[in-house]
Amino acid sequence: MKKAMIALEMAVIILAMTACHTIRQEVGSLGNYVQDDVTMQQELSGPTRQNDCLSGSASFYTESEAVNFSLSVTAKNTVSVTLSETEDADGCEIEYTARNKEASPVPTLRLETNEKTTVFSDLIPNEIYSFRVRVYQIIQNEKVYSKWSHVKRITNTMNQKQIIDGATYFGDVLITNKTYALPEDYGTGLKMEVVNAFREMASDAAKDGITLWIVSGYRSYEMQVVTYQYNVNQSGREKADRVSARPGHSEHQTGLSLDINSTLDSFAGTPEAIWLEKHCVQYGFIIRYPKEKESVTGYQYEPWHIRYLGKEKAAEIACTGLTLEEYFGITSRYNED
Ligand code: DAL
Ligand code: ZN
Repeated sequence: MKKAMIALEMAVIILAMTACHTIRQEVGSLGNYVQDDVTMQQELSGPTRQNDCLSGSASFYTESEAVNFSLSVTAKNTVSVTLSETEDADGCEIEYTARNKEASPVPTLRLETNEKTTVFSDLIPNEIYSFRVRVYQIIQNEKVYSKWSHVKRITNTMNQKQIIDGATYFGDVLITNKTYALPEDYGTGLKMEVVNAFREMASDAAKDGITLWIVSGYRSYEMQVVTYQYNVNQSGREKADRVSARPGHSEHQTGLSLDINSTLDSFAGTPEAIWLEKHCVQYGFIIRYPKEKESVTGYQYEPWHIRYLGKEKAAEIACTGLTLEEYFGITSRYNED
C-alpha cells in the first residue's frame, strides 16, 4: 500500500478523487465511538452475520478481532496512521477527532482508504487527536467489517527528534527508554533544578503531614549494570525487563528521575503515593510509568518513579493524560524484542 496525503480541510469530493481512493465523512462526536462499538458488536454476534462469516471467511473475523495500528507525528502538523497485519483486508476505515481545548469538540470524521499508511496533514498544532480503525473484506460484493480497534490518542506537536551528546531529545525533552539509550559515559549526578524542585515539593508535602525522601536518584551506567543484574538474578530476564531498565536505558542515568520513599508495590495507595500523584506536576514532575501503561512505557506501574520535565512541560503533558511515549508518538522497545 502506498502513502496517501489527506488535508483535513479538503472537501469530501476532492478526497474521493485522490489516487488512494479515500472517502471522508462526518460521523458525529467522539461519543459515537461507544455507540458504534455496541452496534458493531451486536452486528457481529448476530446469527446472520456469523453465518455469513463462517461461510465467507472465518479466519478474517478471528484475525481481525484486534486490528492493530500505530500513530506517529511525522512532520509539522502531520500524523501518520499505519495499520499492521491487514494483508487479508480489502480496505479500512479510520475515524478521527480532535479534542479542542478552547472551543466545542471537532466533529468525528471518517476516512475510507485502501492504503496501509495514511498521512493526515495540516492538523491543529498541539491538539490531541483520537484515532480508531476497522478493516473490511469484500465478500459476495458486500463489505464485511472487523470490530473497531481501541481508540488511540496522539498530540500533534512537532517535536523534532535530535541527538545531543549521544542522548535523544524530542523537542527539548530528553527521552531515555527501551528504544532510546544513553551513552555509557552520560551523566554525572542529579541535575540541580531537580534537586531544587524536590526540596520545594518535600517542604510543601511536610506542611500536609507527608514525608517524602529520595531512595534512588542518579544511577550511573555501571550502577545500572548491578541493579539490572540483581533483578535478573532474582526473577529472570523476562520479569526483570518489566521492572528494571537495562544499562544505558534507565531514566535514572539522565539525572532527571527520582524514586520516592519506597520501590515496593506496597507504596501504591499510601497517603504519600496519593499525595505524590496529585501534586508532583506542580513541581515539574510526572509519574513516568502509570498504571496500565506497561505496553506503552515498557514498565509496570511505578507510583514512586517521578520524572522532572519542568513546571510548564509537566503541566502540558499531564493535562493530556498521555505517557511520554504517547505524547511524542514513540516506542519503548528493545531492538531485539
Ligand atoms: N525501574 C526503572 C524502569 C529503571 O530501572 O530505570
Ligand atoms: Zn525509578
